Amino acid sequence: MISTGSIAEIQALISKFKSEGKKIGFVPTMGALHDGHLSLVATAKEKVDIVVCSIYVNPTQFNNQDDLKQYPRNIEADKGLLAENGCDVLFLPSDEVMYAGRNTIKFEFGDLDKVMEGKFRPGHFSGVALIVSKFFNIVLPDYGFFGQKDLQQLTIIKKLVEELFFNLEIITVPIKREPHGLAMSSRNERLSKEDREKAKIFSIALTEAKSILMEKQSSEAAKSKVESLFANHKAELEYFEIVSDKDLLTKTENYLAPDTVLCIAGFMGNVRLIDNMYLSGV
Ligand code: PAJ
Repeated sequence: MISTGSIAEIQALISKFKSEGKKIGFVPTMGALHDGHLSLVATAKEKVDIVVCSIYVNPTQFNNQDDLKQYPRNIEADKGLLAENGCDVLFLPSDEVMYAGRNTIKFEFGDLDKVMEGKFRPGHFSGVALIVSKFFNIVLPDYGFFGQKDLQQLTIIKKLVEELFFNLEIITVPIKREPHGLAMSSRNERLSKEDREKAKIFSIALTEAKSILMEKQSSEAAKSKVESLFANHKAELEYFEIVSDKDLLTKTENYLAPDTVLCIAGFMGNVRLIDNMYLSGV
């Protein structure tokens, strides 16, 4: 695995691979890697010749400075995992390289960044779109691999690619979960063993809401079940939404259609967690 923080070096490598007719897959991450990230690398490995990963904790997508400071960083362990799991090129840029005082562009996505995460984390998706655009322009991948875990991010990135004519295809990778159901996340590292166990409430709530919707098709019944599960629980519910993955707007009918996805977010202590589940599938 070649590892570099230099844009010029990445660009030289990519042009060499492209001149050899190789297909490039790109997996952007913020590090503190777990099996969820590695499933993106494995999916990329199957589809392309060269897997490029990035590790960069992007400051512009954090609206909370404490969250940025506390974001877990395990760079040496991450490098080992990527090398063992088939990453060919690792891009590890510094803040100076990615921004160097250039941070003036803002993105707006209409309704897409006003709901759910966008509502609770103002500016977050503008920062995500900015860094992902920079990466796409540097790496020029044929495919970008993103996790369903961050469903709203995925919808927004697909919109970005479509509207800005990025010449690549976005591939969605399903959510990797802990054995008891908790969606894997770098933030889980900040949970005590006990809280990590309790945090399974988020996936339990999604599973229960899903079966209620499938049986009764009543969103009120699904919502009140979720609220009751959190009523006397240490975890705090921030939102539970039943939306379409196309426009992220609340669905009020046709729940059994394949675009219906249940989204949830909340806090376990001071750690913010998100999860989602399609009505059809996982
Ligand atoms: P990060 O949270 O590190 O996630 C990197 C990628 O891994 C994202 O596409 C995310 O959806 C995926 N991922 C995380 N947990 C997963 C899980 N349990 N199962 C499957 N995939 C999972 O998302 C970001 O970083 C950043 O916003 C980034 C896109 C890198 C821009 O800074």
